[in-house]
Amino acid sequence: MLVMKKSAVIWFNGELIPWDEAQVHVAAHVLHYGSSVFEGIRAYDTDEGTAVFCLDGHVDRLFNSAKVYRMAIPYTKAEVSAAILETVRANDLASCYIRPLVYRGFETLSIDPTPCPVEVAIVTIEWGRYLGPEAIEQGVDVGVSSWRRMTPGAFPAAAKVGGQYINSQLIAMEAHQHGYVEGVALDANGYVSEGSGENLFVVSRGEIVTPPLASSILEGITRRCAVTLAREEGLAVHEQFIPREALYMADEVFFTGTAAEITPVRSIDGIQVGEGGRGPITERLQKIFFGITGGQMEDRHKWLTYVG
Ligand SMILES: Cc1ncc(COP(=O)(O)O)c(C=O)c1O
Repeated sequence: MLVMKKSAVIWFNGELIPWDEAQVHVAAHVLHYGSSVFEGIRAYDTDEGTAVFCLDGHVDRLFNSAKVYRMAIPYTKAEVSAAILETVRANDLASCYIRPLVYRGFETLSIDPTPCPVEVAIVTIEWGRYLGPEAIEQGVDVGVSSWRRMTPGAFPAAAKVGGQYINSQLIAMEAHQHGYVEGVALDANGYVSEGSGENLFVVSRGEIVTPPLASSILEGITRRCAVTLAREEGLAVHEQFIPREALYMADEVFFTGTAAEITPVRSIDGIQVGEGGRGPITERLQKIFFGITGGQMEDRHKWLTYVG
């Protein structure tokens, strides 16, 4: 299990304070009812200095998640973006994972959180390969979870909300108990949805498919980037409902996510995917993705925001 090292400071309601002083009261609404929205963002160590990947996309999604849950963030998007860059600079990390968190503090413990203050914190932390150091080259072994993703009428999957990650926790814990690196959840109708913290792509006969938003996925920002890169490579990419057996029959399967980046899946439920390692299309997309995030390839989509 990943044990993480504290950073020096946290941006907390408008100011940078020492890590240990960024405290929340036990009566805060968020602790009781999961009332938070958040983002996971990476800052990469590029040849030209530290750069945040897809900053605008993440900040937009944060504000959209807050909108769904009627949370008025007491800062503008520009202020949150500037605070993210300030926190990365202050912690002096060449690369890191960034966690902006917007949550309901205490004013009431009744379920309707409307009177509770909306508070904002930005945490940065060192974080290497999410699914293990060899995962990027060798791929990971995963299992289909006995837990389903939520039905669209119960939880808005496109909003990145703290409470929803209780479902992801069930999927991840079960997978680890069974000896898998990650679990893949099906949607309420039995079609493939996503990993506990990653979107999923299937490659068959040279074409790429990925589940639609209707399969209760988070609309991943890395997913969007992977689709863009694949289409630029002349590959066909479709969103379609994916039956479970398509995972076993695929030539390649890969995950995308801020934490997972682009990670090949080499087996599912003990069944080998394709040749059982990283497939050629996955590798091709990784090369471009890591080329751009490492600063060695032209950032043609302006995905990088330099912190310096
Ligand atoms: C449930 C879930 N799906 C997909 C993703 C991938 O999204 P992104 O690429 O924006 O990090 C994440 C990560 O945040 C996630 O938690």
